[in-house]
Amino acid sequence: AILIVDFGSQVTQLIARRIRETGVYCEIHPFNTAGDAVAALNPRGIVLSGGPASTLDENAPTIHPALLEAGVPILGICYGQQALCMALGGKVEAGHHREFGRADVTVQKPSALYEGVWDLGTQHQVWMSHGDRVTALPEGFEIVGTSAGAPFAMIANEERRIWAVQFHPEVVHTPDGAKLYANFVHHICGIAPSWTMAAYREKAVEKIRTQVGSGRVICGLSGGVDSSVAAVLIHEAIGDQLTCIFVDHGLMRLNEADEVVSMFRDHYNIPLVHVDASELFLSQLAGEADPETKRKTIGRLFIETFEAEAKKIGGAQFLAQGTLYPDVIESVSFTGGPSVTIKSHHNVGGLPERMNMELVEPLRELFKDEVRALGRELGLPESFVGRHPFPGPGLAIRCPGGITPEKLDILRRADAIYLDEIRKSGQYDKIWQAFAVLLPVQTVGVMGDGRTYEFVCALRAVTSVDGMTADFYPFDMGFLGRTATRIINEVRGINRVVYDVTSKPPGTIEWE
Ligand code: XMP
Repeated sequence: AILIVDFGSQVTQLIARRIRETGVYCEIHPFNTAGDAVAALNPRGIVLSGGPASTLDENAPTIHPALLEAGVPILGICYGQQALCMALGGKVEAGHHREFGRADVTVQKPSALYEGVWDLGTQHQVWMSHGDRVTALPEGFEIVGTSAGAPFAMIANEERRIWAVQFHPEVVHTPDGAKLYANFVHHICGIAPSWTMAAYREKAVEKIRTQVGSGRVICGLSGGVDSSVAAVLIHEAIGDQLTCIFVDHGLMRLNEADEVVSMFRDHYNIPLVHVDASELFLSQLAGEADPETKRKTIGRLFIETFEAEAKKIGGAQFLAQGTLYPDVIESVSFTGGPSVTIKSHHNVGGLPERMNMELVEPLRELFKDEVRALGRELGLPESFVGRHPFPGPGLAIRCPGGITPEKLDILRRADAIYLDEIRKSGQYDKIWQAFAVLLPVQTVGVMGDGRTYEFVCALRAVTSVDGMTADFYPFDMGFLGRTATRIINEVRGINRVVYDVTSKPPGTIEWE
């Protein structure tokens, strides 16, 4: 495995994804517990991430001595490079000018890091983001590449097997970055690619069997990719010792609840309890317009309903959850105080600890794209595995203001047309998430010779890598016009369609 030591960079998770894509397992650990991680993981290579701190600050994070003593190859990125230099006797200074964005590095000397990728003397685009920079090298190091703003853009001590770069090879703006990581893990660390979802599936099945024995497991199913993949994997391991509970809050999209039930019950033969709780949810939400209250009400009702059903089933000691690796990674925080709550998230993973059950979390080591790959491996249909994320509170947060069954019905039909048009135009897979929002605003229109006074429908589509930041998707006007016409013609209750061109930040993806 490769150990990634996190110094708090925004893109540390991308380092892990690049390495996993080379077929090699890796874990992220915070810099202050990295010493323990070396002992626990016994890594064959170490990557030091970037980070927001300055090595010149008094309390700057430092490299744990165990990392340097491990005797395995090390690759330092940005702050990781500076921290290496500080630790080994080099010098770092605040830059005369900060360097952010695209830069070109020139390869000055051969190095194992880019052997077979870059030729001597050539120039390559990389992504820089730093204020400080290295100004004197530790003993035994040499410059192997430079850029205009960073004379020490790439340095190496090939004998001690330490490499360090000022730029970020993990981001897409460093086009050859993935190849540099592949060189590091395959050739420098000598690890053969063996991290595949086929291998993971086998191991996970074994692990579930060992953990569960002859016990009973219940699993909250949401219709989303994570809980579905977890359920299918667990069913493969222990068969009908698993029971799934699908709490249908009546806030799903058109036909979605039926599809979930038929896929799991009929196609996979997984024991499934379908709890139609829509009346309960809708009656408790009636007249409620405050976004946080709506979210909290849904979260509370979900837990109550789920618990009641679990009790009815009885005898289950285990609760399955689709927890993913990004939820598990301990994050390095330099901001200190608690961060503000933008939204109270609710999903099937948020079941309470007071249920007093042991957790089965077979996706704990996986990133979202790996969960999708595992889903394919398990034979889930592509149309399902590639689905856009859908929030736990469902359509409730796409219907600003009070919710009524009539409004939900209008929203469902508009949303279905919008997604149909996106699929037909071949754009679905280019988009992170697309959905319709029904605004609590009526406007005047004219249809035929008559006056109309109906709701406004907003369309949203964004691109994103992780949902943390997002850009609005640039549909062409022809597509938007066609879709608006279809929605207004086919959905009674909507006479105006608008497109949301807000990115995140400052907007969020969902409207509530
Ligand atoms: P926002 O609106 O915060 O959304 O920009 C970021 C991503 O999270 C999804 N989302 C949720 N997912 N439970 C979930 O499981 C929730 O309560 C929830 N709220 C937002 C949203 O759809 C987007 O993908």
